[in-house]
Amino acid sequence: MNNFENKKVLLIICGGIAAYKSLELIRLFKKKNAFVKTILTKNANKFVTPLSVTSLSQEKVYTDLFDHKNESEMDHISLSRWADFILIAPATANTISKLSYGTSDDLASTVILASNKNIFLAPAMNVRMWEHPANKKNLQKLKDFGYQIIGPEIGDMACGEYGEGKMTDPEDIINHLSNYLNNINKNKKLKALVTAGPTHEYIDPVRYISNKSSGKQGYELAKSLKNNGFETTLITGPTNLEPILDINLIKVNSAKEMFDATLKNLPTDVAIFSAAVSDWKIQNVEKNKIKKDKNINLKLEKNIDILDYVSKHNSLRPKIVIGFAAETNNLTENSKKKLSQKNCDWIVANDVSDSSIGFGSDFNEVTIFYKNKEHEKISKMKKSLLAEKIVERVISQIN
Ligand code: CTP
Repeated sequence: MNNFENKKVLLIICGGIAAYKSLELIRLFKKKNAFVKTILTKNANKFVTPLSVTSLSQEKVYTDLFDHKNESEMDHISLSRWADFILIAPATANTISKLSYGTSDDLASTVILASNKNIFLAPAMNVRMWEHPANKKNLQKLKDFGYQIIGPEIGDMACGEYGEGKMTDPEDIINHLSNYLNNINKNKKLKALVTAGPTHEYIDPVRYISNKSSGKQGYELAKSLKNNGFETTLITGPTNLEPILDINLIKVNSAKEMFDATLKNLPTDVAIFSAAVSDWKIQNVEKNKIKKDKNINLKLEKNIDILDYVSKHNSLRPKIVIGFAAETNNLTENSKKKLSQKNCDWIVANDVSDSSIGFGSDFNEVTIFYKNKEHEKISKMKKSLLAEKIVERVISQIN
């Protein structure tokens, strides 16, 4: 099946030796009946010519932000709106750095900053540059924004060195994008809701009770759902995480606010409750800061269980309801209990007593307990990859 038929691709070519491969990319897109508009950065002009790009794409090539002719025909905002998705290939270390800071000093970076579309990068650079902590840090920021990275690959480099940093072959980039478009087509009418992070239950205006949740797993799940075509709402307690582009992000403090926001954004096709919601709230929140010379006795009352409420609701219950279980002991027994008591389709259980995979870590190791089949253990991996694995399973269940 050709997923590229009449798709609009905005290709940004940066200045690197791998730029010659992007001509092959244009040829492959055109063969699949996609429309391709191309932006060449200033340095890309030194590796490929606008003439060769125009000849292959049969479209105008854009280079200069302040070109009055371009701006009158199609300005940088319209260009970013025109595309179904944007591919930066090759993406150089310099462009990755600029995008991570939101620099917009040329047409390519301005279009990206103004874009509301899915953005893919196929990096290409020398192995030392690829491995440099500055590049890794910049790349992580782009991933946090929800940009998707294809490659790079390991191999002999144009500079004579060997290692990771080669741009992924055009055929493989096309396959990656084809899978993405396939999922978008399948899932584009589907909605997802994710809860993430801790909640803050205030004692007085300056103090609260909370827990160690970082929100990382929930954010990664929301990102992966969005990248697979779901219209995604993320309801998040307070975290230090970067907001994700192109999703409905709702920030809350308390469990009550999370509950209200959840009800407001249902029904959806799938809901994943990964938030570590505080089980208790303070009965009488003090209006003014409590002075320390006062003896205090906190009276707690139970918060409403959001997952339990939604999964037992007749009209609001999504087709797939997934709960999380944060356990320090008796993981299997407790998770199975939550699965049935909270009427979930799955419970994703993790052992939060292990700090290498628990709250705050970039890694996770979980067991998924299903309502209708045997449980499944997923070994330790990055939370981003785990999110992709979970979303893969959601898609196969929904379809
Ligand atoms: N949950 C919720 N609302 C609450 C408490 C929990 O939606 N007020 C959800 C969590 O988001 C998670 C699941 O319920 O998906 C299980 O949360 P967990 O903290 O593991 O268990 P609890 O139900 O709170 O029970 P316990 O603390 O006794 O383990």
